Amino acid sequence: MSAMENFPYILTISSEKGGVGKTTLATNLAIYLKAMMEDLQVTVMSFDNHFTVDRMFELKGQQSNGTVEDFLKGVRGVNLLHQGQYGVNYIPSSDNLTEMYPGFKGPMALCRMMSESGISGIIVLDTRPDLNILTQNALYAADRVLIPVKDMPSLENCKHIFALFDQRGIDKKSLSLIPCLIDNRIKYDGLFRDQRTLLRAFAINRGYRCTDTYISKSPKVESLNTNPDGKIYPILNYARETEVHSQFTELAQDILNVYLQTQESRAFLYHQWQSEQEDRKKEAFLARLEGILPHCLICGARHEAGGLKGFYFETSDMNSRGFLHTECFVGMLCSLLYDLNAKSELYQLSLQVIRERASSSVSIFFPDSTGTVPQKLIFKQFDYNGTLLIERQLSLEGFYEGLLDGVRDHLFMLLNETMTGYDGKLRSGWLAIHPVNEARPEQVLQDASYRKLREIQRVISETKLK
Ligand SMILES: Nc1ncnc2c1ncn2[C@@H]1O[C@H](COP(=O)(O)OP(=O)(O)OP(=O)(O)O)[C@@H](O)[C@H]1O
Ligand SMILES: [Mg+2]
Ligand SMILES: [Zn+2]
Repeated sequence: MSAMENFPYILTISSEKGGVGKTTLATNLAIYLKAMMEDLQVTVMSFDNHFTVDRMFELKGQQSNGTVEDFLKGVRGVNLLHQGQYGVNYIPSSDNLTEMYPGFKGPMALCRMMSESGISGIIVLDTRPDLNILTQNALYAADRVLIPVKDMPSLENCKHIFALFDQRGIDKKSLSLIPCLIDNRIKYDGLFRDQRTLLRAFAINRGYRCTDTYISKSPKVESLNTNPDGKIYPILNYARETEVHSQFTELAQDILNVYLQTQESRAFLYHQWQSEQEDRKKEAFLARLEGILPHCLICGARHEAGGLKGFYFETSDMNSRGFLHTECFVGMLCSLLYDLNAKSELYQLSLQVIRERASSSVSIFFPDSTGTVPQKLIFKQFDYNGTLLIERQLSLEGFYEGLLDGVRDHLFMLLNETMTGYDGKLRSGWLAIHPVNEARPEQVLQDASYRKLREIQRVISETKLK
């Protein structure tokens, strides 16, 4: 179990049917688990708004750090744990959860929160009687799911849970039905003598697992919910003489056995998967850093000599990639677009406008493909939605001869090192220049930002470079 330290094992109690004994099962199982294994950390939380958990476990006088709602909004679980009665921890309930359903889209979000919760031991999760997104999350995060069924309609309903697992391709062996609220006085004639045997038979016939243990209906157990002080009393302490007590003991023992045999809980596996992802991202980032040219291709100075790197460039064939100084690139655009010499006054005025536009758009250069040797270079600037902002044709006069005229010499130097083939001609393809954060220019090569960059390049190059 050492691999699972600081990662919880999740036991979810779920059924679409209301009133089948979910909450009774969740809260009491937590108490039995704790009683049977004293050094095990046991935590209960509920996605329902009945506050049963609170009424059962609350120790008066403890200050609250937050509720299940805070947990689902990203607060680390371990910071929300309340010490409760019977040695069981709980996270206080909330009646505000429905409001956050829309923000809770991914089916694996809860699994992530569990893996980052810092809680160890077993978490027992009580759910609402429906299959909303939170319940789905609770199912996918679970190492084990108990589905209470009390009659044919509730058995009928389980197929939705099984279907959810099929949809996501998750192993259904963690799911098992448990007959609950079984009235032993009801007897049938024929093959299935009683309610429990009948439910079991139907369950197994449909390919559902069913626990060996079932939970009887007991008036004593029912009465534990109704007390003058508003509290709810546990079976372990207040209904020891009932059959239900031994049934919970048996069930808790089975849960502990399976728990103790579990090497890697889902929360732990999720953590492992996530750190592998992180490693993979780090590697991808380092691979992208490799081959970045050490100097600014416009002024020729090495980046370590200083100067703000405000733009990242790459060619469509990825042969040339690197950073440009903000001033170099903005200055170059200014000369090109307005045919201005750097010494003129108008040039200084235009700089600001060009700088602003360049810092929120993608600049693309590509040779005009008419003729064997391109005589023109096309320049296009797009916003990040792919909308064309400016288009210019730039003369390549003097480029092949190596003539510099003061206006286009920066461009020619840039083209030389990015787009020129071994034969001195411009290669086909394009050169894209993207604005980057001057404070952290390399960030553009991180997974998420780089994916965005490639996406806009794809959009532009597929449809807009004609
Ligand atoms: N073993 C039992 N014997 C008798 N009554 C029981 C037993 N277990 C639960 N009950 C009673 O059945 C009712 C429903 O139980 P519980 O609240 O646990 O079901 P639930 O599935 O959580 O309901 P909901 O879907 O509304 O959340 C409660 O009044 C509870 O006291
Ligand atoms: Mg309930
Ligand atoms: Zn430069």
